[in-house]
Amino acid sequence: MKVTVIGAGNVGATCANVMAQKDIVNKVVLLDIKEGVAEGKALDIWETAPVNDYSTRVEGYTNDYSQTKNSDVVVITSGLPRKPGMSRDDLIATNAGIVRQVTENVIKYSPDTKIIVVSNPLDVMTYCAYLTAKVDSSRVFGMAGVLDTARYRAFLASELNISPKDIQGMLLGGHGDTMVPLPRYTTVSGIPVTELIPVDRLNAIIDRTKNGGGEIVNLLGTSAWYAPGAAAAQMVESIIKNENRIFPCCALLNGQYGLKDIYLGVPAKLGKNGIEEIIELKLNTAEMDLMNTSAKAVRNVMDVLDKQLAASAAK
Ligand code: NAI
Ligand code: 2OP
Repeated sequence: MKVTVIGAGNVGATCANVMAQKDIVNKVVLLDIKEGVAEGKALDIWETAPVNDYSTRVEGYTNDYSQTKNSDVVVITSGLPRKPGMSRDDLIATNAGIVRQVTENVIKYSPDTKIIVVSNPLDVMTYCAYLTAKVDSSRVFGMAGVLDTARYRAFLASELNISPKDIQGMLLGGHGDTMVPLPRYTTVSGIPVTELIPVDRLNAIIDRTKNGGGEIVNLLGTSAWYAPGAAAAQMVESIIKNENRIFPCCALLNGQYGLKDIYLGVPAKLGKNGIEEIIELKLNTAEMDLMNTSAKAVRNVMDVLDKQLAASAAK
């Protein structure tokens, strides 16, 4: 089994490192456009193998896509991260150009691969990769919900002074301030979270989750990487091991939740073919309203991308 990570920056290198430590694939290829960066980080991760006891070979390459040939899964993290004061949507033009160029090369050498997009603005970059790859949407999806629910679970664990392992949470919608954490679907060892945390504290945690990306940007001056890299690696693991785990994934909707032709976060079963199934929850009116608001926000950014694509096609 072979996994490629495009972009050897903060998120990509972390994802490659976590993948290697899991020891579930023969090879991880790290690729970047900057001379020597992927080679250097891959070598450093490979030199950790004797210490941390894993066998996964990690190799780095500058722009040589032939080395990514026949990858089972490709994670795309190439692109600019968000800087303070910059919205995810500001990134669209630059990152769309990068995601298109990368996806074309990925599909050329690995036509049967599954693609997990991480680059922001996430929902629209996943749509961009799908338009470029021209493969079934079950093979092109995005990572955001695993990170967003991880933040939600971490904040709940701090509030309750318990292990995050016992917290299960679900979240829908776009990767942005309109994301929809679902308290009705949040449990602590089977106990509904609403029985353990007063509503005002729960609402404060939901707000903090929605702003979780910005909180780190404000602290660090760039966006997060440990949790995002680990989250992408967890999705890869479910595919590689055909675990059929259910994660919130950014997937193309085709009528589910009353929405069509839009990439949005929904619960999905991840297995050897990529998205094996999208799970449709029975949302109440308030939850559906929030989902529709989130869809509207994502569609606005999709429209920006569609206009940019139409303008470049007309040139
Ligand atoms: P980074 O700047 O540390 O790394 C990005 C890497 O991409 C750089 O090494 C750069 O040289 C490389 N790159 C740029 N153009 C390329 C190309 N054409 N081909 C190959 N490599 C190329 O950024 P970081 O922090 O790793 O973030 C990466 C992306 O992930 C950003 O767009 C960021 O906003 C996004 N992100 C998304 C999250 C999510 O939940 N979906 C969470 C965290 C970050
Ligand atoms: C995050 O949520 C900025 O999308 C990035 O950390």
